Amino acid sequence: MEGTAHGKIILIGEHSVVYGHPAIAIPFNDSRIVCRLKPSETDVIVSSLYEGPLSDAPPLFQPIRKLIGKLKAAFEHGPCHYIIESDIPIGAGLGSSAAIAAAITSAVYKMNDRPLDSRTHYEWVQYSETLAHRNPSGIDALCVTSDHGWFFTKNKREPIEITISGSLVIAYSGETTPTSQSVAHVRKLTETSEDFQQIINGLGGLAFQAKDALVSKDINALGDAMNAAMEGLNALGLSTERIERLNHLAKRHGAIASKLTGGGMGGCVIALCASEKDAENVRDAWTKEENVRTWKINFREEA
Ligand code: PMV
Repeated sequence: MEGTAHGKIILIGEHSVVYGHPAIAIPFNDSRIVCRLKPSETDVIVSSLYEGPLSDAPPLFQPIRKLIGKLKAAFEHGPCHYIIESDIPIGAGLGSSAAIAAAITSAVYKMNDRPLDSRTHYEWVQYSETLAHRNPSGIDALCVTSDHGWFFTKNKREPIEITISGSLVIAYSGETTPTSQSVAHVRKLTETSEDFQQIINGLGGLAFQAKDALVSKDINALGDAMNAAMEGLNALGLSTERIERLNHLAKRHGAIASKLTGGGMGGCVIALCASEKDAENVRDAWTKEENVRTWKINFREEA
């Protein structure tokens, strides 16, 4: 039995979304996770990071262990091999932990021949995410369990479609920091000075600007909001030298905007481009000069 899930990309609003501000995120269908279940004598995890008994899995797997325990209790099903294949880099801001939880949940529901509605799916993933980093906004859980974008706040979610023509190029910096760590870092800053709270508020305002830009199909205004958000994220200490280099390189090769996505302190960078040609130029530059893994998403204007 098999469950699949995809990653997600936050266009704008990471971190400030934890404080009740909006964020915009889209599913990342080119990046997927598959979980296959095979009934066996004991629970075993088979993955690129760890292979062995579920009970001995390293701390990183703790949320998954608890999720599986809760799912097993709910369905009273026996032990299994949980075979996880992922092409989403771990800790890269693309929602890998949420996607793993989503794929496992989906596989368990299928094995038990039970329908899984999106609300229930979200709840299971959010349960696992809460174990991974205490106070998740829910944007990852929502995005990996749905097939369209969201304008999201903790209290309200509106589906959003990107109908601007243009492209988004994504690069994995190769650096990773657990989201729990970057979220704790920002929390500490906001507790030490009001200036940091102002930055968070500013990021919230920029997410509204980005939404307006999407509605009015103004790619330059979207880019302005994303660039300004990067400045805010940098001021919160979430950038790295590599991220700065990737941002700089993207803009030098035609990107309208370039920023980190997700928790930051490494992870992925996204570059917004007005044309596929610009996007290819950015991709080439990132590959040749920084030797990073890249992806590309093309947005289409509605007919
Ligand atoms: O790094 P990721 O993919 O886990 O994204 C986290 C997004 C944050 O806003 C930093 C945290 C959250 O709970 O929304």
